[in-house]
Amino acid sequence: MSRTRTRAASALGGLALAAVTALVATSSPAVARRPPSDPSTQTLATLADRHHLAVGTAIDVGALSDPTYRSIASTEFSTVTPENVMKWEALEPTRGRYDWSAADRFMRFAEANDQQVRGHVLVWSNQLPGWLTEGVADGSIDRTELRALLRKHVTDVVTRYKGRIWQWDVVNEAVEDGFDPGPDGVVGYKGFWYDNLGPGYVADAFRWARAADPKALLFYNDYNIDAFADGGSLDKTQFVYDMVRDLKARGVPVDGVGSQAHLSTRYPNYSSFQIADALNRFAGLGVATALTEVDVRNLLPEERTGDTINPLLQAQAFNYGALMQGCLASRKCISYTVWGFDDGHSWTNDWDFGGGVGTEALAAIYDEDYRPKPAYAQLQADLAYAGPPMVLPRIPQKPAR
Ligand code: G3I
Repeated sequence: MSRTRTRAASALGGLALAAVTALVATSSPAVARRPPSDPSTQTLATLADRHHLAVGTAIDVGALSDPTYRSIASTEFSTVTPENVMKWEALEPTRGRYDWSAADRFMRFAEANDQQVRGHVLVWSNQLPGWLTEGVADGSIDRTELRALLRKHVTDVVTRYKGRIWQWDVVNEAVEDGFDPGPDGVVGYKGFWYDNLGPGYVADAFRWARAADPKALLFYNDYNIDAFADGGSLDKTQFVYDMVRDLKARGVPVDGVGSQAHLSTRYPNYSSFQIADALNRFAGLGVATALTEVDVRNLLPEERTGDTINPLLQAQAFNYGALMQGCLASRKCISYTVWGFDDGHSWTNDWDFGGGVGTEALAAIYDEDYRPKPAYAQLQADLAYAGPPMVLPRIPQKPAR
C-alpha cells in the first residue's frame, strides 16, 4: 500500500527545505541550551493536550514497517485514522468473506500507542467492492437486497470494533459541490447510495451504527464545508448544515460533523475567523466538529527552486494554521487530523486534480525525508501560544441517545 516517492518530488523537497531551514537558521538568535518547556521541542499531541484537543493523522498501514514513519506516527499524534484499510473494498473483497487483517493491524498499532481511533469509513461511494457495484449494475442485486447488504456491512464493522472507536465516519461525501451541482442546478445528494437507495440511507446508516455501538461518536464527514458561502442553493456547507439539522430534529443519532479540509494554496481559502464561524454554527446544532483530513497541496511550478517553493510552503503553513486557529477557537472542535503526515505517503502524489497526476502535491507537514516543514512549526506555535480568554478547553461530546 505504501507509495513510491518520485525522484523529482524528493529533489524538490530537499531544495525547498534547505532554503527554508537556512532562512530560519539565519533569522533565529543563537540559543545555547533549550529549556525543557520550549514548545518547539514538544510534540503536537503534547501541545494540544492542554486544550483537550486530539491531534491526529491518517495511517498508511503499509508504511508502518518503516521505523521512522512508525516512530513519528506513534509519538506526534494522539488520534489515528485508517487511510484505506477500513473501507468496504478492503474489508470484504469477496462477498461474505471478511478480511480483517489490515484493519486489525491498524487497531493494534493505535491501542499499543494509546491513541484514540477515528473509524473511516462506513458508507461511501468510493472504494466499494467490485461484487457489490457490479451486482447493482447488472441487476442481480436489487434495492431491497442492497439496503440489507448496507445494514449488514455497517452492523458487522461497527460490532467488530465496538467500544474501541472514538469517532466513526458513518456517512462520507454524500453531497454535491456548488461548482458541480448536477442537472437541476442546485446542490443536493449525490453518489452510489443516493442513486440506488434514495436519501433515506443517511438516517438508516446512523441508526444502524448507533445500535451496534452506543458509545462511538457518529460523524457525517465531507470536503468543501470549511466555511459557509452565501447560504443559497449552491452553498454546500449550508446544505450539510440543513441536512444535519433535519436529521437531529428527527432524532437521528448524529454526534458530529467532520470537515475534511483538503485545501490547495492555489485557491483563496479561508481565514481563521471563517473556519471558527463554520465550526461554531455546526456546534449550534448540538454536534461536535472535527477537522478530519487536513492537508494543503501546492500547484507545483515548472522550475522548482527555493525561490519558487518557499512562498508555497509559507502559504501552506498559513492554511494549516488558519484551520488550527479556527478549531481552537471553537470549543466543540474535538480533533484535528492530517491526512497523512509526510509528503512521501500523501494521496496527492497519486491524484490528478486536473493538471495531471502529482502536479499538485507537497501537501503534508513533513517532507518526504521526514523533516518537519514550516507548517509543522506553525501548528506547534498555534497550539503553544493559544489560551484564555479566546481559546478555552474543548467541551467533550456525548453520544446522542
Ligand atoms: O489497493 C489497490 C492495489 O491493490 C492496487 O494495486 C493499486 C494500484 O493503483 O491501487 C490500490 O488502491 C489504491 C488505494 O488508494 C489504496 O492504496 C487506489 O488505487 C487509490 O485510488 C486509493 O486512493 C485513496 C483514495 O481515498 C480513494 O478514493 C487514497 O489512498 C486515500 O487517501 C483517499 O482518501 C480519501 C478519504 O477516504 C475520503 N476523503 C477524501 C480522501 C482523499 O481522496
